[in-house]
Amino acid sequence: MTNKATLIVGANSDIAKALALKIINSEYPQLIIVSRDITFYQQALFSQAILIETASYNDEDIGKVADTIKQIGARDISRVFICHGVLHSKSYQPEKRLEDFSAEAFIKVINANTITPMLWLKHLTPLLASQHRCKIIIFTARVGSISDNKLGGWYSYRSSKAAMNMLIKSAAVELARRAKNIKLISFHPGTTDTPLSKPFQANVPQGKLFTCEFVAKQLLTIVEDTVIDGEASFLDWQGKDIPW
Ligand SMILES: NC(=O)c1ccc[n+]([C@@H]2O[C@H](COP(=O)([O-])OP(=O)(O)OC[C@H]3O[C@@H](n4cnc5c(N)ncnc54)[C@H](OP(=O)(O)O)[C@@H]3O)[C@@H](O)[C@H]2O)c1
Repeated sequence: MTNKATLIVGANSDIAKALALKIINSEYPQLIIVSRDITFYQQALFSQAILIETASYNDEDIGKVADTIKQIGARDISRVFICHGVLHSKSYQPEKRLEDFSAEAFIKVINANTITPMLWLKHLTPLLASQHRCKIIIFTARVGSISDNKLGGWYSYRSSKAAMNMLIKSAAVELARRAKNIKLISFHPGTTDTPLSKPFQANVPQGKLFTCEFVAKQLLTIVEDTVIDGEASFLDWQGKDIPW
């Protein structure tokens, strides 16, 4: 492998699949895929990709995946996409009012949206710190911006993404000391047609519900254009800065 391999974790996300399809057809098609369900990637197109299925995203299982990646050759990785995110499930919905808040739901959301990506940063940083340039993109959301919050509601999702942003900001300070080759990007894809946004698409203005292919194309350009500057960036699908 050259230093052009891409690692996608949480790869069963619809946006992640669109990214993988673009990358596998690109000049640098080396892909490492991690998900709890790799079925989508068991097709001929991905026969050269390395597929890693994990039972869960707890600390131990993420550590085991990191060990596997280390053996494969982590120094070859120049892009990492961390795609986890939940907004609703059969058992919970985003809160409209304070009375909707549930400790149990909050823990589930924060676990998927914040703890899981943070565990990836914990286990991957030692592998990726090197002389080679590497960009790590963590999917967050504009609603995680504290200064941009004019609408309120969605307490668990919002705060899980705001907490992720604080972790990213803090990690960037540490990386500027110990892994200057790594750039962290908190990424807002915009409202994109995936299972996550499905129940909330009715009021999206015309032209503002993006396809996964569009977001994947935008993101790959943004990643290419972003410089490694020792700071975290919080960017939207146009590559524009979002206030933290
Ligand atoms: N779609 C939108 O409109 C929109 C808008 C703003 C931000 N985002 C963000 O974009 C990212 C990708 O979302 P998507 O729309 O592509 O969603 P999606 O298709 O519903 O994908 C869900 C993702 O979350 C992971 N996941 C699900 N349950 C989990 C759990 N309990 N613990 C850990 N990970 C779990 C999945 O991992 P597996 O691969 O293991 O299944 C997969 O990566 C998310 O961070 C989301 O918040 C999306």
